[in-house]
Amino acid sequence: MSESTGVPLALGTMYFGTRTDEATAFDLLDRFVDAGGTLIDTADCYTFWHEPDGRGGESETVIGRWLAARPGMRDRVSLSTKTGAQPQGEGEWPANRQGLSGDAVGAAARGSLRRLGTDRIDLYWTHTEDRGVPLEETAQALAGLVADGTVARIGASNHALWRVERARGIAERHGWAGYTALQLRHSYLKPRPGVPALPHRFGWVTDETLDYVETEPGLSLWVYTVLLNGYYARTDRPLGEEFEHPGNTRRLAALERVATDLGVSRNQVVLAWLTGGRPPLVPVVGVSSPEQLDEALAGVALELSAEHRRLLDEAA
Ligand SMILES: NC(=O)c1ccc[n+]([C@@H]2O[C@H](COP(=O)([O-])OP(=O)(O)OC[C@H]3O[C@@H](n4cnc5c(N)ncnc54)[C@H](OP(=O)(O)O)[C@@H]3O)[C@@H](O)[C@H]2O)c1
Repeated sequence: MSESTGVPLALGTMYFGTRTDEATAFDLLDRFVDAGGTLIDTADCYTFWHEPDGRGGESETVIGRWLAARPGMRDRVSLSTKTGAQPQGEGEWPANRQGLSGDAVGAAARGSLRRLGTDRIDLYWTHTEDRGVPLEETAQALAGLVADGTVARIGASNHALWRVERARGIAERHGWAGYTALQLRHSYLKPRPGVPALPHRFGWVTDETLDYVETEPGLSLWVYTVLLNGYYARTDRPLGEEFEHPGNTRRLAALERVATDLGVSRNQVVLAWLTGGRPPLVPVVGVSSPEQLDEALAGVALELSAEHRRLLDEAA
């Protein structure tokens, strides 16, 4: 069960158990699976900024309770979770995050397995870089989890590309399992070049990312905040100032034209553009209602004609 088969959409569960209550989360997970969805994305730190004790874990816990209430479901879904960004101890995030030392990675994986109520994680991401720890130490800890069957594959989220490539080189030299996936922020509208994807300096997909993923066999790219928190569909989600530039004015016009031609929403066109391009991407979409989920599923099922894709690409 991987992103190359089945519905090319990962269900983003960041707010499950906090903003989205458990009953709604269960309904959304059921509906997603009923529609053929398999990929579920979470993190050990979701969502610490909404939790009274300032530590994440509710999202994984809700998914774990859902799996426990649905016998056999664990074998039908692919669980993706992340490590490294969970706050611990005193001080402000991100300085106080758990980080990626060998001990931290091992302890975090055990915590995620416990909350998810499972014995394995299908895709385990390092959520953010930890430059205070040698890459080799993190790479060895991750490879150990793959070797003992705790984790099927590993991915890097919000890392500088040169660090990913260096970590893959270290893994290859040692004969260890290395990163086979990237998770970064991306959408049809683009920020002005040079603006960091705060809080992650290297969090945006760039042309270099796309070139890397297209060129390297076996490397996949998951992308988050693709719907810009609802911006394409509603007026109560204004864009950040970094999205105000003439390139996006042209892009919005092209998006509107394709959506009108096809009689679908702008969200759906954005999702079809992401999943059907070169390289094909896996959008991680956050939803809080059945209608939003259905729209996302319809978006990844939509195929754009060559003409519409050219129009969208050339608007850049
Ligand atoms: N790796 C990382 O560092 C990282 C960072 C951020 C997110 N993620 C992952 O990506 C997932 C999604 O991220 P995100 O929540 O930032 O971005 P998003 O998918 O762009 O935004 C999701 C929000 O957009 C609104 N929305 C969705 N569909 C809609 C529709 N059809 N019509 C109107 N509004 C709609 C909803 O807001 P309301 O619920 O308010 O209605 C929803 O909660 C997360 O759950 C997480 O798994 C990863």
